Amino acid sequence: MNYEAFYKQSIENPEAFWTQQADAIEWYQKPSVILSKDENEYPLWFKDGQLNLCYLALDKHIQDGHGDQVAMIYDSPVTQTVKKYTFNEVKTEVAQLAGGLLSLGLKTGETAVIYMPMIPQAAFAMLACARIGVTHSVVFGGFAPHELAIRIDDCKPRVILTASSGIEIDRLIAYKPLVDEAIELAQHKPKKVVVLNRKLGARIPFKKYDVDYDALVYGSEETPCVPVNATHPLYVLYTSGTTGKPKGIVRDTGGYATALQFSMRYIYGVQQDEVFWAASDVGWVVGHSFIVYGPLINRNTTVLFEGKPIRTPDASTFWRVIAEHKVSVMFTAPTAIRAIKKEDPNGEFIKQYDLSSLRTQFLAGERCDVATLEWYREHIPIPAIDHWWQTESGWPMICNMMGVEYLPIKPGSSGKAVSGYHIKILGENGQELAANEEGYVVVQLPLPPGTLLNIWNDTERFQAGYLNKFPGYYFSGDGGYKDEEGYIFITGRVDDVINVAGHRLSTAEMEEIVASHPSVAEGAVIGINDELKGQIPLAMVVTKSGDSIEHFQLQHEIVHLVREKIGAVAALRDVVIVQRLPKTRSGKILRKLLRSIADGENFQIPSTIDDEAIIEEIQADFERDKIGVFKK
Ligand code: COA
Ligand code: AMP
Repeated sequence: MNYEAFYKQSIENPEAFWTQQADAIEWYQKPSVILSKDENEYPLWFKDGQLNLCYLALDKHIQDGHGDQVAMIYDSPVTQTVKKYTFNEVKTEVAQLAGGLLSLGLKTGETAVIYMPMIPQAAFAMLACARIGVTHSVVFGGFAPHELAIRIDDCKPRVILTASSGIEIDRLIAYKPLVDEAIELAQHKPKKVVVLNRKLGARIPFKKYDVDYDALVYGSEETPCVPVNATHPLYVLYTSGTTGKPKGIVRDTGGYATALQFSMRYIYGVQQDEVFWAASDVGWVVGHSFIVYGPLINRNTTVLFEGKPIRTPDASTFWRVIAEHKVSVMFTAPTAIRAIKKEDPNGEFIKQYDLSSLRTQFLAGERCDVATLEWYREHIPIPAIDHWWQTESGWPMICNMMGVEYLPIKPGSSGKAVSGYHIKILGENGQELAANEEGYVVVQLPLPPGTLLNIWNDTERFQAGYLNKFPGYYFSGDGGYKDEEGYIFITGRVDDVINVAGHRLSTAEMEEIVASHPSVAEGAVIGINDELKGQIPLAMVVTKSGDSIEHFQLQHEIVHLVREKIGAVAALRDVVIVQRLPKTRSGKILRKLLRSIADGENFQIPSTIDDEAIIEEIQADFERDKIGVFKK
């Protein structure tokens, strides 16, 4: 197939293109209205269609005679477990859990929060919610109770599903006390907390609202799938924005199912029956789309991996999983490859495994640096495909569409626009920029099916954040450029969002926490380059006049505060005390300038700067504290 022609069809005649793609999934009621608009003139797909995603992921395959195929492989080096579940087994547990959730009073149209580590029951919980039309919101296990509480208050779940513990390399993280604390912090009080006891020795304080997961499942009858409208919110997934409050990205059902089926076939190029592995977490969008729903809809065996690329037990883990389970297509973040490369620079572990099953390696979550891509290709000579997307899009926007045509790779580029995404690069005034000129990466409306429907409970923020900057376009928040051949190069966020080890975090949120420390007069948090994690946060603070707190004490307290409020995943380690922060004459902190100084990049002194002398002061501060390029 020819990429250009296929892509052109999707842009020139989106309705015909997506009607055909929607035919690839099964509907209780096929949509007759393909593309329409909601009350705010925002495009809607397949408005009058009816379907159920749990049905597509499980029951359909059983009806088609594939009930004994392995649907999920749970591979957990941290508990030294490998467990395989067939479609029949997953369906039975999911249908019983769904029945149990109904017995707890959960109704179609209500919400449930899932706060679980990377275990099969996290996926079962998602599928059980989908089965009965309950909107789920999975919260990443690395987030602290405060973050969980913010999400509870926003999406108001009747039920929370959790597990007794997660395992971080060699330490047990008791989840239940974190959930209890979050419920105490939140205004909204969920009625029930379903707790899976993993029996790993974690403390499970008992509360009146607790329900035992196993007892609930085994005490309940299987319940059938409930048909829902195509625009029914399958889930709300919170992601960092430019303020302290995360945004609840709302995903529809019909467009999403269509887009995921499309992605598996045309983007990832996987055939039914094959083993597909996305080494991410169910708490992120990758987990939703390509650990749980996408591969299962496409009748692939999905791998659910509870471990890290290194130290569980070593840098050979990924290769062991690929060889042992005969993974055909894999997806991970470049940071994982960098971590492996650091431990095993010559790829000695790679040589010990038979990786002949692996056809394609996909990389995303952050910019893929050329050195990482080249290291991978040197040691594993298969296509290593960088691709770009976001929580908001739910599926890839820029990629080498491996199921359509394998185009030559240009290192540093995530490829060309995916079908359905009419991507342009605009300048500050909304003018389209010429080839190779860097600007804002936008997508012309309508976005294709499966992308965000709204922000939960906040249409105004949705419009202000994504649609108003360039009318007629969705604004991605990323900068980049397109070359003469249509290859797009993403250069990074243009807002306060940073990407730490493939995890999306808000510096604005960290700034609020830093500013709450009693010794801090004002502070700024920026993302600076890091060899392993891509970016790491750096806090810079001006202490209150007369406050004599020691640097190490202040750093310790602020780091602790951020871990306590956001979670360890924020990975803030460095706090620099400065005399003052560089600002414009109107008082805006010059964060880009700070970043350039820390990263050792060439910069122009902004004409709006209040006082140029501050640049040397900051350089001296960074040198003193060995920050960024001054580390060496
Ligand atoms: N529950 C509790 N804590 C968690 C957690 C979870 N689910 N995930 C991470 N954390 C904690 C870690 O234990 C660590 O705590 P510490 O500071 O006390 O050591 C902290 O959060 C930072 O974790 P992480 O970013 O994972 O750093 P790391 O140094 O432990 O590992 C990598 C580095 C590169 C190996 C790891 O970040 C990684 O595998 N990244 C890939 C991420 C990925 O796939 N993202 C998905 C995007 S597609
Ligand atoms: P998330 O919503 O957590 O998936 O994060 C999305 C953000 O990660 C994007 O807006 C980009 O800034 C960044 N990102 C994801 N994939 C890539 C990629 N392949 N290249 C560059 N940046 C990426």
